[in-house]
Amino acid sequence: MDHLAPNNTLSEGSDHGMADLRTSQPDPYAGHLAKANDDGGVISTEDIFDGRGQLLIRRHSAIDARCAQRLLQHRLQRPLEDQVQVKNVLTNADFLVEYSHFLQSHRDIFSAQRHLRFTRELEQLIGGMRLPSVVAQKMTVMKLCLPEQFQKALFSSWLAALIAREMSLDKEDIYAAFIAGLIHDIGFLHISSEILNKKGEASVSDWRAIQSHVVIGQMVLKGYPELPDSVARSVLEHHERCDGTGYPAARDENNLSIIGQIVAMSDALQALRMGVFAKTGRNLRDVLPFLRLNSNTHFYGIYRVTVDIIRKSGLEPTPVAHPQGNSQYVPLLVRRIDYLKQAVNSMKQIAKVLGEIEGGPKGRVSIRTFDQVLNGIITSGMARDELLGWIELIDDNIDDSVLLEINEIELMQNELIWQIGSAQRTFSAFLERECNVDSQMQATLRMHNDQLRESLEKLRQR
Ligand SMILES: [Fe+2]
Repeated sequence: MDHLAPNNTLSEGSDHGMADLRTSQPDPYAGHLAKANDDGGVISTEDIFDGRGQLLIRRHSAIDARCAQRLLQHRLQRPLEDQVQVKNVLTNADFLVEYSHFLQSHRDIFSAQRHLRFTRELEQLIGGMRLPSVVAQKMTVMKLCLPEQFQKALFSSWLAALIAREMSLDKEDIYAAFIAGLIHDIGFLHISSEILNKKGEASVSDWRAIQSHVVIGQMVLKGYPELPDSVARSVLEHHERCDGTGYPAARDENNLSIIGQIVAMSDALQALRMGVFAKTGRNLRDVLPFLRLNSNTHFYGIYRVTVDIIRKSGLEPTPVAHPQGNSQYVPLLVRRIDYLKQAVNSMKQIAKVLGEIEGGPKGRVSIRTFDQVLNGIITSGMARDELLGWIELIDDNIDDSVLLEINEIELMQNELIWQIGSAQRTFSAFLERECNVDSQMQATLRMHNDQLRESLEKLRQR
């Protein structure tokens, strides 16, 4: 869910006068706190009232599952995080231990850290952290309730700081990138675990809830003098993209900050390295095919430096065999090229119809998203007959060097499949809710959308 999601915009200009989502509706943070209470102890520090002044929870109560149930039925007078205390909140010394465990348990990241001589600076960054107490509370709750998310935060902060250093940003900006990388998904704590843990395809409303994490994150972080000014903005912008297909506001590169895009790049690589790669044993070096397809997604300078970091990391690509035997690889790649061509056709048809109607800002985001994906497919040559010809020449004796080339094509295909899925989701949301065209046009768009969905299903089969 963190992976570079181009998307339907959540709310343009969402940072202007939006209601505080922690008090304008029941706050799912109560559920996460109750879970943290099992391990750490979470106590109310004052009487907690609902929005109409009714007492809900007395001071000094443990926030257990029953309390949480009660809290989850009401809007609160004040944000819950300001009315509770979590035991054993993470200190800088604890973070040092956490980063050290993290590096030791990921050999490739540890290797990159050593090759790039980053250990000392990382220790200084951790030692110099000044997190507001509410932020330290939330990171503690994240570690207890969403441990995978916490590990991803460690990775993102590590890489964001490294990119900032390699770009020769000044010390303050490297620190800001480090902190923003660590806390960029803090808004997830205000989304219910049912939505966060849902398996399978998310519904349009679930996506909207998930996308709200950037706005909530910014809301939580605004106004703390301990945090560099750029941090809240970077958190808001970490799913924005320079091509204007991101969320929440689909800003273009002229309106995005460097640190926000450094965090966006770190978060995208986090989703690969800590997510999909973890299952296949791939390492940080294997993100290069993904980067090749995203050279302009987060400022070209950030892309260049990230490629340099990977090249200097001392890592080699990982040859990964097909789970059912390497003889399955050639048919898989050939099938996918065929389905990619079908998807290209459907996307071109949709973009053509969209170009002829007045779809408003969200229609325009959909067109841009399809254009970007189509452009990526064309420039990478991933749907070309020449590639097909090369693949068909591969015989059954696949040695490691051929396997690495096949892996690279597969990784690029995976990224394109992900991008098509994301564009299709953006378009479906637009079609479902905001596409005001006559019924014949609707039917045409629906038909192409169904065809695109079918191609996607086939592309996702291995
Ligand atoms: Fe995120």
